[in-house]
Amino acid sequence: MSGAAPATQARRETWSSSTGFILAAVGSAVGLGNIWRFPGVAYESGGGAFLVPYLVALLTAGIPILFLDYAIGHRYRGAAPLAYRRMARPAEALGWFQIVLSFVIAVYYAAVIAWSLSYFVFAFDLRWGDDPAGFFTGEYLRVGAPEVSTTIVPAVAIPLVLVWVVVMAIIALGVTRGVQRVNVLFIPLLVLAFVALVARAVTLPGAADGLNALFTPDWGALADPAVWIAAYSQIFFSLSIAFGIMVTYASYQRRKANMTSAGLVVAFANSSFEILAGIGVFATLGFLAHQQATGIDQLEGLSGPILSFVTFPAVISEMPGGALFGAVFFGALVLAGFTSIISILLGVAASVQEKFGLAQRTSAIVVGLVCAVISLALFSTTSGLIALDTVDQWANNVGIVVSAIVMTVLVVWVFRTAPVLRAHLNRVSTFQVGRYWYALIGVLAPVLLGYMLYERVRTLLTEGYEGYPGWYLTVFGWGAIALVVGGALVLTLLPWRRGEDEDFRPWPELEEERR
Ligand code: ALA
Repeated sequence: MSGAAPATQARRETWSSSTGFILAAVGSAVGLGNIWRFPGVAYESGGGAFLVPYLVALLTAGIPILFLDYAIGHRYRGAAPLAYRRMARPAEALGWFQIVLSFVIAVYYAAVIAWSLSYFVFAFDLRWGDDPAGFFTGEYLRVGAPEVSTTIVPAVAIPLVLVWVVVMAIIALGVTRGVQRVNVLFIPLLVLAFVALVARAVTLPGAADGLNALFTPDWGALADPAVWIAAYSQIFFSLSIAFGIMVTYASYQRRKANMTSAGLVVAFANSSFEILAGIGVFATLGFLAHQQATGIDQLEGLSGPILSFVTFPAVISEMPGGALFGAVFFGALVLAGFTSIISILLGVAASVQEKFGLAQRTSAIVVGLVCAVISLALFSTTSGLIALDTVDQWANNVGIVVSAIVMTVLVVWVFRTAPVLRAHLNRVSTFQVGRYWYALIGVLAPVLLGYMLYERVRTLLTEGYEGYPGWYLTVFGWGAIALVVGGALVLTLLPWRRGEDEDFRPWPELEEERR
């Protein structure tokens, strides 16, 4: 590589190899969404038939938007706000929208990792006893009414502080020495843990009934728009796309790097892991149904936090060698969660670092401390579970979808940078992106996502959510979205500490110009 790049580019740290980048991107994608979200969503949304909308969503929106994130980050070499700004100045605001959304997601995501850490310890002596539901919401979380509680629950606050300290330390160490190292260590461990869990699960009595429940298609479900909405939301959250993370990760990739092939590996690895998680979880539930001499459809709590923290502990208690199985399951949840939250926080810390001209370490510590304080104040209190459920619903189903629509419309129709981005990807990659990509990101994705968003917002406005009071949803649900919009505006308007970077020229044009 020539030493001709401008200073702003030359200083950028890089992943030490393509494998390092791929492992980090897989680490970001494979997270809590794969283990506690996917199995329940698939079961509720038509079982085996869900795989059809899921694969359609992966191919028509997931991979095309992943390529878009990669192209922007790799070409413009910045975390989301800087990369978008270099693409087209006003687009910086979209970068900040994605980054403030990542911040909102990080503060509650950390709480779920903290619960997993506690349950990893609890698994050794099956601390939840005979009543895992009562233990989770009562003894452990001490859940109260939907209110703004200031009563901190130490059993949640202590592991939560630990999570933030570790995440902050990893980000402060930097991309190669911190983030990449952790992924290189954790991802193989996670795969081993998961393969062991699934192998054990499918050999339990009743496992086949569980798999039948997951994979027996309910084709009628395909006519239900809610099922398609669920498939697209799952793919977006799971692939970590449209909230700035993959833009940031790609910006640290070397200039001569095969981006699209890496993207295909990441996307298929993530979906394989997700389907494997579905098999493991449902085989285990088949065992529970077998033990209780009932059908899977009679079991309760098959999705969301309840699946992992109530139903799973119930199974673990009934299983020979359950303590070990439980420790491996919650250990896997912790590993998967950590490798994802570091990607979310890196996006935020790198954006703040670039805008305000801070040292990497300072930015990691400042951003980490702010996140930790908010995370503790909102999610380690007696109203933490309800706040988390509400913010998650709005961030996922409104925030990420808005971000994806705005992103695709701006790139294709407003700034018309799609051809430049496609040419960039094709110049560095072996898997060539055809013109169909414009139709997918420019027409299909915004139209489908626009419809999904309309449906979801209408439902939230007319039916509310989980019966929580209206004022509560206004504060925590719509309030989270208002915070993202307001935060994005304020951060965009603040001046760049290091001034304008007008010397930036995207590579490889830069080299061509100098020949
Ligand atoms: N992609 C991450 C997950 O699935 C955020 O949990």
